[in-house]
Amino acid sequence: MDVSPVQGRVTLGTQYFCDKEKEHGVVEHFKNEEGPFMVGDVADIVYKFHLWKREMPEIMPYFAVKANPHPTVLRILAELGAAFDCASKDEMEAVMSLGVSPSSHMIYANTCKSPANLTFAFDSIVRLMTFDNEYELKKMWRFQPAAVLLIRIRADESGVALSFGTKFGCELDEVPYLLREATRLMFPVVGVSFHIGFNNSNPTVYATTIGWCKKVFQMAEVQGIRMKVVDIGGGFPGANEPQFLEISRIVRDALEEHFNLDDIAVMAEPGTFFVESAFTLYTQVIGKRQKGNQKMYFLNDGAYGSFRQCAVYQSLYEPEPVIGGRSLEPGCSVWGPTCASDDRIIQCCPLPDMDIGEWVAFRNMGAYEGEVATNFNGFPKPTVVFAVNAAIRPRFEACRTWPELLKLLKEQIAHKLDKK
Ligand SMILES: Cc1ncc(COP(=O)(O)O)c(C=O)c1O
Repeated sequence: MDVSPVQGRVTLGTQYFCDKEKEHGVVEHFKNEEGPFMVGDVADIVYKFHLWKREMPEIMPYFAVKANPHPTVLRILAELGAAFDCASKDEMEAVMSLGVSPSSHMIYANTCKSPANLTFAFDSIVRLMTFDNEYELKKMWRFQPAAVLLIRIRADESGVALSFGTKFGCELDEVPYLLREATRLMFPVVGVSFHIGFNNSNPTVYATTIGWCKKVFQMAEVQGIRMKVVDIGGGFPGANEPQFLEISRIVRDALEEHFNLDDIAVMAEPGTFFVESAFTLYTQVIGKRQKGNQKMYFLNDGAYGSFRQCAVYQSLYEPEPVIGGRSLEPGCSVWGPTCASDDRIIQCCPLPDMDIGEWVAFRNMGAYEGEVATNFNGFPKPTVVFAVNAAIRPRFEACRTWPELLKLLKEQIAHKLDKK
């Protein structure tokens, strides 16, 4: 098996080649490391981008940088032609450093923007941004008077696991007043945006909220404002392709029902979708304890590290011991390494009898997980490395430019794209 670090001409940071089927072999290279590590599959990101283009070709994806701002991720998506949703000065700078146009390919989609960040946006010609209240309008008037706006409405959130509507998005009955205020301050409001929230089990909320966007267009029309942009936000699943396909169909149908697509531009802010499935986290068992008839396992990453979402979602994480094929013991619990008693990753799951030093993989860890990890108690965040299928190693090493590499990776995933 071929799992070895390389320096290709196009660098992905630290890169490894491994066969997809034997990818756990990558742990061999980390056996003497202390911390956890995350392996990114670049072909998966390329696949997701083309899948998006296949399903919703008319909808420009603005990748939500917050989901995974790793420079290699941003580079791949920029090279593929994606646009970017940024929420802060640092995110805007990271994207602009790749040569992405701030005026045509970026949105500052944070409804609460600091004065310093707005000044930065003004100086850098980041124009398109969202708002949902009058104080934000007044602040923008002082610090970024050249902004071009989308009004963010609260989405239909029935079925959502983590609501955004409690913090962001105005109610429909606030829209007329906010549009009048924006006009008074000389801001062009060119469209409407929303976000359906995280882990929404009910895809029809896209249809309902796109219907509400149409109502906003009509309210604007009454005031002589001709809107032309619908921004359907994020919320697209990153590790559930059937559900993504269903959402795409619902979105296409709803847009067709409510709008003339020749008259408007439709954009989205997918984050999770592009990166969640591309990353696998590898953690090591650093402790073990028998309590009654239950085994407790302690890993070198936990709720204060990469597993930040365990506070919100129960049973989200599925441990996959790298050494497979053993019989399972029920009722095990999995904990992080810190002194915090709430640093628990999984309350109850079946696991084989594992030894100290064993590796445990967790798939679908590419969205937010590594990004919101802390160094609490002095435990390191995961190191990120990238893996490429060993079969393409010689051709990969011959690639001189990013477009060449992305073409090669597209060939790799073409068979998956053709399967519909
Ligand atoms: C304004 C905005 N757009 C897009 C996203 C990305 O959402 P997702 O990762 O669900 O696609 C977020 C996530 O927090 C957000 O706040």
